[in-house]
Amino acid sequence: MKSYKNKVAAITGAASGIGRALAVDLAKRKCNLALSDVDEKGLAETVQMVSAAGVRVTSRTLDVADRKAMHAWADEVVHDHGKVNLIFNNAGVALGGTVEDTGYEDYEWILGVNMWGVVQGTKAFLPYIKQAGEEGHVINISSVFGLFAQPTQSGYNMSKFAVRGFTESLRQELDIESCGVSATCVHPGGIKTNIARNARMTKSMENLTGTASAENMRDSFEALFMTTAEQAAKVILSAVSANKRRVLIGPDARVLDMMQRTLPVIYQKVVTASFKLASR
Ligand code: NAI
Repeated sequence: MKSYKNKVAAITGAASGIGRALAVDLAKRKCNLALSDVDEKGLAETVQMVSAAGVRVTSRTLDVADRKAMHAWADEVVHDHGKVNLIFNNAGVALGGTVEDTGYEDYEWILGVNMWGVVQGTKAFLPYIKQAGEEGHVINISSVFGLFAQPTQSGYNMSKFAVRGFTESLRQELDIESCGVSATCVHPGGIKTNIARNARMTKSMENLTGTASAENMRDSFEALFMTTAEQAAKVILSAVSANKRRVLIGPDARVLDMMQRTLPVIYQKVVTASFKLASR
């Protein structure tokens, strides 16, 4: 992607955090925007934030887990903008709890948003991105937890490992086709957004992490977040320009990635030891 100017980018989860920062950054680069989120109020705020940039902006309330609605949105974006060149499958949620304590409904919820949302966003937009006949890109947001597993994160890990496998397979298919469309998988470390605030957490989180309450836990997660959403957006857009396959965001992501590469199995012992220490 040599230039974002006059392109059309669709972004899910654009009402907050990384999705909003991507919208703001892309608008500055004169990229037209199609924004969506379940949060109508936050979405309207993002639209307001990019309104002075002089680009065309459309928005829609959308649950990425809703397959029909996702395909209808892709049709609508092309109808409204005449084309689409990029899809950022960014919407995501977090879930904390042990496997024993996490119900099927919670697993279905997180997979619906984090995994099916990405699959559906890719399948709905990819034919249109190819049809545009210009440089195009699918950007799927996984996590460092798509590379590295943690206790209490089975649902999140499962969804983000799935995004990685799906995107790496897609990238290879697109490379073979040489169709001008590419794909990047993004693995952020802790980013200062609302993700922890909006997370579902079960009681087992408190027991296993030795934290007094869910509120304290959210605070301690947020204290570990090192990178701003604006910095994350910049890294993502540079990586797409450079057609990278994988992008890590933040020093924490790089450390965990290194640990997983050098100790691909034993890293789990290091993690469990640190959990045991913290819960004493
Ligand atoms: P955020 O909570 O600030 O933003 C996520 C957005 O997704 C919100 O606007 C929310 O309303 C929206 N959303 C939630 N469920 C949705 C649904 N069913 N349909 C449509 N929209 C929905 O969080 P953040 O951090 O900006 O998250 C963006 C992506 O980055 C997510 O995929 C997340 O898993 C990923 N990520 C975030 C990290 C962090 O530390 N903040 C670390 C690694 C990955």
